[in-house]
Amino acid sequence: MKFFVLGNNRELSVAEIEAVTGVHEFASREGDVLLLETDQTGPQLQDRLAGTIKVGSVVGELNKWDKEACADLIGAMIDPELPRVEFGVSVYDAGNAHRAKELRKESQRLGLEIKRRVKESGRPVRLVTSREKTLSAVVVATNKLLERGGEFVLVVTKESILIGQTEAVQDFEAWGKRDFGRPARDAQSGMLPPKLARMMVNLSGADPIHSTLLDPFCGSGTVLMEAILLGFTKVIGSDISEKAMEDTKANLDWLAAQGGAMPPIELSVSPAQTLVLSEPVDAIVTETYLGPALHGREHPDFLKRNLASLATLYRDAFGALANLVKPGSTAVVAFPVFQSKTGEQEVATRSMLESLGWKVERRLRYERAGQHVEREIFVMRRG
Ligand SMILES: C[S@@+](CC[C@H](N)C(=O)[O-])C[C@H]1O[C@@H](n2cnc3c(N)ncnc32)[C@H](O)[C@@H]1O
Repeated sequence: MKFFVLGNNRELSVAEIEAVTGVHEFASREGDVLLLETDQTGPQLQDRLAGTIKVGSVVGELNKWDKEACADLIGAMIDPELPRVEFGVSVYDAGNAHRAKELRKESQRLGLEIKRRVKESGRPVRLVTSREKTLSAVVVATNKLLERGGEFVLVVTKESILIGQTEAVQDFEAWGKRDFGRPARDAQSGMLPPKLARMMVNLSGADPIHSTLLDPFCGSGTVLMEAILLGFTKVIGSDISEKAMEDTKANLDWLAAQGGAMPPIELSVSPAQTLVLSEPVDAIVTETYLGPALHGREHPDFLKRNLASLATLYRDAFGALANLVKPGSTAVVAFPVFQSKTGEQEVATRSMLESLGWKVERRLRYERAGQHVEREIFVMRRG
């Protein structure tokens, strides 16, 4: 059984794991962790997923806490051939937060017991700890724990304590590089965080090897970059703005210069409402135009006009886009949700999209601290 340590937007992380593994029945989905059976390896899964921080395998189970038994199990997982050992222990809540908190204290004693045993075998050993509740992906990666000894994980469910070994952690350097290191960043018109873009591409469920993906509001090309990294056969980007297209080109050239295969890429300047393609595509993944940047003190009349003009854009664009996809294709679209004194105001509605031929299958909220505009991710299928 595999354990997945989920990122901040849990619902989205779980939906992404479902889409990538094809598994919809979970052994558990509580607290910070998802547990399920899959044949895919930890590194394969982690390489693809953006909403998961760590992946590993469950190797044992204790019905009640027993430090010695746990040390026996973990001790047996440490490679006896390693000349020196560096390891760490993290405790995660999977349905019993109170017990997980208690076990965090116990895990220190457990770490010391394992350290004592390794030392007895005559090898130098280091127990890596952290001030945070659990060892972060950064701590695990920078200390090379997975190669030098291991990160061992106690997953505390309602019924028992599962003992697992981490197999892969999120490549925080690669994500940071794509987020902050790409040449063209347009904070004004709003950039999709690369992790959200990746989750959205995964949610499309399209098999990259045989699929063409379209982003008709491509901005600086974040979705296209993630689709290329996932191995899509062909990607198409378009945007109404020439500047956006220049940014996309600069970012895709930068990606090509990092090495790795680049598929055929088609780029054009066009409003989504009148976009023309030579062939229908297999998937649309996009963040729509969210309207002008807001500061939160706008006059209600301004907000009303803004909502009305966005509603017209979405109706016209998604009506036209319905004719550019193969029947049964999926569109994964980030629409804005505005917060006002009277509550939330959404612009894209299920009924409007369904009247245009899109069946809305899921809606998932993406939140990030300090944002005036939240995003609602619609997963919809062309009938
Ligand atoms: C929120 S941005 C997309 C950002 C993009 N996801 C990224 O990460 O760079 C929305 C984009 O929609 C474009 N846009 C606005 N109206 C449009 C229209 N009618 N058709 C196509 N693109 C449009 C804007 O130029 C802008 O680049």
